[in-house]
Amino acid sequence: MDQKIKNNLKKKIFIKTFGCQMNEYDSNRILDIAKKINYFPTKKKSDADCYIINTCHIREKATEKVFHDIGRVKKEYKNKKKPILIITGCVAQAEGDLILKKDRYVDAVIGPQSYQSINKVIKDIESKKTQHEITNFETIQKFDQLKLIKNDNSKISAFLTIQEGCDKFCKFCVVPYTRGAEYSRNFNEILNEADELIDNGAREITLLGQNVNAYKNNNKRLSDLIYALEKRKKLLRIRYTTSHPKDMTSDLLEVYQNSTKLMPLLHLPVQSGSDKILKSMNRKHTIKEYLDTINILKEKKPKIKFTSDFIIAYPGETDQDFEKTCELMEKVKFITSYSFIFSPRPGTPAGSMKIIKTKLAQKRLITFQKIAEKIKFNYKQNLLNSVVKVLFENKMENEKNKYFGRDEYQNPVIVYSKKNITGQEKNVIIKKFTQHTIYGELMDTDKFLAA
Ligand code: SAM
Ligand code: SF4
Ligand code: F3S
Repeated sequence: MDQKIKNNLKKKIFIKTFGCQMNEYDSNRILDIAKKINYFPTKKKSDADCYIINTCHIREKATEKVFHDIGRVKKEYKNKKKPILIITGCVAQAEGDLILKKDRYVDAVIGPQSYQSINKVIKDIESKKTQHEITNFETIQKFDQLKLIKNDNSKISAFLTIQEGCDKFCKFCVVPYTRGAEYSRNFNEILNEADELIDNGAREITLLGQNVNAYKNNNKRLSDLIYALEKRKKLLRIRYTTSHPKDMTSDLLEVYQNSTKLMPLLHLPVQSGSDKILKSMNRKHTIKEYLDTINILKEKKPKIKFTSDFIIAYPGETDQDFEKTCELMEKVKFITSYSFIFSPRPGTPAGSMKIIKTKLAQKRLITFQKIAEKIKFNYKQNLLNSVVKVLFENKMENEKNKYFGRDEYQNPVIVYSKKNITGQEKNVIIKKFTQHTIYGELMDTDKFLAA
């Protein structure tokens, strides 16, 4: 086709993404898929022919937030041509029919397992203008289609989904209902996609899954994937998230001793420090088992550190249960923690349990977060004047000669450099820190000095 006609046919697609890294990965893959029908990504949200809101359903008011966002899109496009508006993600899966019924401005809802249908949906809407709801669980078809489409992600640090869904059914969680049953992608297809990412410039890959360490494909486990990625010369760093404590199998623990590219930081959500609460959440492990895993990992990799998720004021949580959670925080000294008050989710077993009064729940959350902040502050204080290894991801926008990267523990670090250091790992001496950022100076030597 003539290039001029081709350019005229080019359309713009914008995606606003909420929720976890898996949604971020999905959004990027939707952008890859849509290129096939001449829709190209735009960063301007008021300038799109197709506007997608990729939603998260993990905590309360998720659906209301989506309706607010739809309202914002309407305002934004009041005097412009209406974009095709598609709601994707976990709210689309859980509340898709409600959204379509309530707001005719929405053209389609597509659940997380059906993104392979997106081009057909867009084309149908262009020609017929009818509403579409696609919320079947078609995980196999999704990844079968995705393997045929090149992953165009060109970030230094890239995500790669290896596993979807969850069979654990923690009593508070919507994920088994929005993402469906556990499914692991084909081992070789994952490696092919990893090679694509590395060819595009990725130097760090984070393997993703709702239960990433439950990965199993023809006897291949997460540990096998890490060993295979380790052999990719240009790849410098490997991470994975999110893991369930119950699936920290011995082969995976062993990798920490053998791999030089697997980062010494593990996100291991614990939710509560009380065995009674863990049992009532259906978490399937005790605090002793959790701490045993942490201790084995420390033996195998002495410099390893941990981050975690906590649910505060779960139904039935007494002052004593809450204290146990605070004690666990003090004991493990998680360098980052994500803590939220329990949010009852309709349709989940805990959704109908008696909730703890808001005032008490908020008081506990504040107490817990103060402990977490103190631990984080002390950790950062200890970093001052130490040497850390940073992988630089980009030059900072509107800042002359400043580069942004992350150390092995994912701390954001900024340095001054006249040379372009994007994509390189460098030793940095830490000079100061603020709440969100750490500032350092490049060391002269590239030989890593810290233990
Ligand atoms: N698969 C991971 C695991 O096993 O812990 C967690 C995935 S979930 C998307 C992320 C976090 O959301 C959970 O670790 C939990 O702390 C939080 N979360 C999930 N449901 C919640 C609820 N109903 N109320 C508050 N927080 C919740
Ligand atoms: Fe949700 Fe539990 Fe599954 Fe994690 S393991 S996704 S918290 S049900
Ligand atoms: Fe949210 Fe769905 Fe991820 S509920 S956290 S977007 S799996």
